[in-house]
Amino acid sequence: MEWMEHVKIAFVGKGGSGKTTLSSLLIRHLASTGRPLLAVDADINQHLATALGATEAEAAALPTLGGRLAFVKDYLRGSNPRIGSSEEMIKTTPPGSGSRLLGIDDDNPVWRECVRLVRGVRLAVTGPFEDADLGVACYHSKVGAVELLLNHLVDGKGEYVVVVRDSLPYAWQVISTVAAQLEDADREVPFADHEVAPPSEEHRGQLLRALASDAIRGGLERHFGVRLAFQNCHRVAAFRPAAVGGASYEAFVSPRGQLLNQSPELRDC
Ligand SMILES: Nc1ncnc2c1ncn2[C@@H]1O[C@H](COP(=O)(O)OP(=O)(O)OP(=O)(O)O)[C@@H](O)[C@H]1O
Ligand SMILES: [Mg+2]
Repeated sequence: MEWMEHVKIAFVGKGGSGKTTLSSLLIRHLASTGRPLLAVDADINQHLATALGATEAEAAALPTLGGRLAFVKDYLRGSNPRIGSSEEMIKTTPPGSGSRLLGIDDDNPVWRECVRLVRGVRLAVTGPFEDADLGVACYHSKVGAVELLLNHLVDGKGEYVVVVRDSLPYAWQVISTVAAQLEDADREVPFADHEVAPPSEEHRGQLLRALASDAIRGGLERHFGVRLAFQNCHRVAAFRPAAVGGASYEAFVSPRGQLLNQSPELRDC
């Protein structure tokens, strides 16, 4: 469902109110749809495996992220020259050049080492919190393994557009508006466009960031099912894919179209 790309769900409530039970039901439902899925139990009470149907013995035998923290860090830091050792890597250390990134369902040593199939669900667990873990530092080192994994995840297609929407709200608003206008227009209308100059250079910067990045622009095009075109650092058009190469598309992306619509001042963009 489309809306599933746009929500984050949290179960909160008093102890024993059903958070783990509801999480496991949602996880089972998602797994049954065949979506890429990775469940991670980072709860101080490690009950997700049994809630998913594992026996106590199966749950106890699962490999733990907490027990493989150095391995996980070493894999993730890869050849990143800014992180000299796994000890230097803390839970908030971001990926950079040389780091290794993970996809939810790709084949990599971390998942091979730490993820197991539990009743059809791919599950990783931080491991139980023992008496020795009591105290802020140790507790956070186990949850920190999960934070590091999340920081090194390459989002799926749907999640990526949410990042774009949240970080470039003006660009998102302009592009989603022209895409919606095109959707509402008659089939023979080849494109919808937005010609109003951005209200500030910061807003213009958002448009540039969205449209001058192949990854962002391509993500938006796939999300909305349109081909985007951009003129003069502000005029945005959404074309029907079938209209690409047609007369109105060629006119829009032509040097003539650019020259006739540009203003003489150099913009600070
Ligand atoms: N809707 C429900 N109806 C009846 N019993 C339920 C329901 N949801 C959960 N339970 C039962 O209530 C108990 C506590 O549920 P669960 O472990 O999911 O709670 P929790 O919020 O995760 O608790 P904790 O805060 O201890 O982690 C379990 O025995 C579970 O089987
Ligand atoms: Mg619980």
